[in-house]
Amino acid sequence: MTGQSNDESIEVMLAAAETFPPPPGFAEGSRFSDPAIYEKASGDPEGWWAGWAGELEWFEPWKEVLDWSDPPHARWFEGGRINASVNCLDRHVAAGRGDRIAYLWEAEDADDGSGDGRRGVTYGELLEETCRFANGLRGLGIGRGDVVGIYMPMVPETVVAMLACARIGAVHNVVFGGFSPESVRDRMDVSGARALVTADATLRRGSPVPMKAALDQVLDGLGGLEHVIVLDRCGTDPPMAEGRDLRWADVIAGQPEKCEPERMESEDPLFILYTSGSTASPKGIVHTTGGYLTHVSATHRMVFDLRDDDVYWCAADIGWVTGHSYIVYGPLLNGATSVMYEGAPDYPTRDRWWEIAARYGATILYTAPTAIRTFMKWGDDLPAAHDLSKLRLLGSVGEPINPEAWLWYRHHIGGDRCPIVDTWWQTETGGIMISPLPAITATKPGSATLPLPGIEAKILDGEGHEIEGQGLGGNLVITKPWPGMARTLYREPERFIETYWSRFGQETYAVGDAAFRDGDGYFWIVGRLDDVINVSGHRLSTMEVEAAVDSHPSVAEAAVIGVPDEQTGQAIVAFVTPRDGTSDGVEPEAMTAEIREHVAERIGKLARPARVYYSEDLPKTRSGKIMRRLLRDIATGHDLGDTTTLRDPSVVESLAAQVEAADS
Ligand code: WTA
Repeated sequence: MTGQSNDESIEVMLAAAETFPPPPGFAEGSRFSDPAIYEKASGDPEGWWAGWAGELEWFEPWKEVLDWSDPPHARWFEGGRINASVNCLDRHVAAGRGDRIAYLWEAEDADDGSGDGRRGVTYGELLEETCRFANGLRGLGIGRGDVVGIYMPMVPETVVAMLACARIGAVHNVVFGGFSPESVRDRMDVSGARALVTADATLRRGSPVPMKAALDQVLDGLGGLEHVIVLDRCGTDPPMAEGRDLRWADVIAGQPEKCEPERMESEDPLFILYTSGSTASPKGIVHTTGGYLTHVSATHRMVFDLRDDDVYWCAADIGWVTGHSYIVYGPLLNGATSVMYEGAPDYPTRDRWWEIAARYGATILYTAPTAIRTFMKWGDDLPAAHDLSKLRLLGSVGEPINPEAWLWYRHHIGGDRCPIVDTWWQTETGGIMISPLPAITATKPGSATLPLPGIEAKILDGEGHEIEGQGLGGNLVITKPWPGMARTLYREPERFIETYWSRFGQETYAVGDAAFRDGDGYFWIVGRLDDVINVSGHRLSTMEVEAAVDSHPSVAEAAVIGVPDEQTGQAIVAFVTPRDGTSDGVEPEAMTAEIREHVAERIGKLARPARVYYSEDLPKTRSGKIMRRLLRDIATGHDLGDTTTLRDPSVVESLAAQVEAADS
């Protein structure tokens, strides 16, 4: 279920909504089984968050919990000094938990006989590696406030690189490994990165896909980028540029296992993460230190009801915010033991995840609806062949989960005994905002349920009035500051205010999602209100994809939209006018293949249009504005209504005929 809400689909969903109370016995041993925490938090939100911040280790205590005197600029725990890596690592080692496993890492090729394919990395080892790498970075002159790019596979060294930055006060800027080298280049350029950490290659379904060599073709000319540090993951021995490129092994060689951490201000930036917005240029979301750490440790502990013997598995990629908050910072702050899997879910067979879950005795699994739908398609027998009886809690994130997938997940993965936490949040929010608490909240398939303690959300109509009626859709907003909130957009402070804090005033965070509430006050997130497309939980901007399609030499003009898709949530459809001004003579198949390849190079494979349609012009108003709503109707086979206001109505007929032909 994606796109704008309509009353009919809402009614159908509400009518079908079954309620699942926490399973009997689940609350036993849970720290969060008393519903009174909601009132406690809403009665004194600052006291609530300060309580969580107090569980972290501070070099110096804060003077003020929250300064909200100049909205939307929040300052949390002002005056406090803290270091993220100390809280993730040193604290646990000092408490005698250095031998505890932080990551149970499984290589994609774990069974190929190389011998190093399964590694249990302890907190103690992670601390040593982090210190050595941090010392190496310092030796290169990297320090407080410098931006360091990270473009890496799913390996423990990626965590080391992030924490090493945090240790010395450098700001990491991780780019998801599925993005193209050109995207990496752009993100390094706009953030002024001084160093980039990468690997020789990443394994994909058994073969190494070059990372470093691919970067070489685009990195030249990036003046500010002084160092490229290359981890040897696949032994492919890429070319190394003298003076710029360094091997990871050489950077850490001879470095001491101790490294004095920087005493960061609470509001110093911890990282930048670029994400897609309504325009072609990605937004550099800036998160700071004290508040972010407080938010992710609290939410990780509460939402996953974390216990000492849990084996927690967040199957996202570290390159997305879910990985930052719930593979790296949240779990490490809480001293959790996590599973980390490097590769594809269908390598060598389609039951790889279930084999991994059984092998390590995973107790918590956190993944995206698109993965769940894929597993549904692959067949019930695959999970059924593995012992998943240790699982006690399941999570979902990244897009609305359709009730069928939710029910399948509950039954086939959770054995009808595991609560499901459908967690709504965003790169901008830093951590989970709306979600069940598994020992308290009765869940309904498809609903993220209620804002977490300390979080206040509402649904507003176009005029900014709260919608209180049941089932009426509107704009989701957050009405109180929260510690993990994005502080700004890197180097674009005005865009930050315009995008999020103008629509309903400077104290109300405009989320950009449509949502409604049911009779129990539960929130149902419907989808994006802006030009962001969510493909398999990956956030992309129509404008960004459009710009990529446009830049193909044979394309004169392109319009890109998202349409509902059973498998991927939304799919990308492009409408293209070829450069010679006529679509006669275009070989659609060859051209589509070229356009897809071109987009893969510009942005990454994840942004390739699923379908491309051609016409001599795009449907436009007489004033020349592309009618996107109409394109959406064409692509989904909806009734087109009155098209007489168009400049050239015949264009619509030709496109509609192509869509029909493609569907049949
Ligand atoms: C969508 C991912 C419904 C939503 C953590 C949001 C969801 C965007 C859910 C943020 C959910 C995320 N139910 N929709 N549980 N979780 N979304 O920044 O549209 O990659 O605005 O953060 O994903 O995507 P982002």
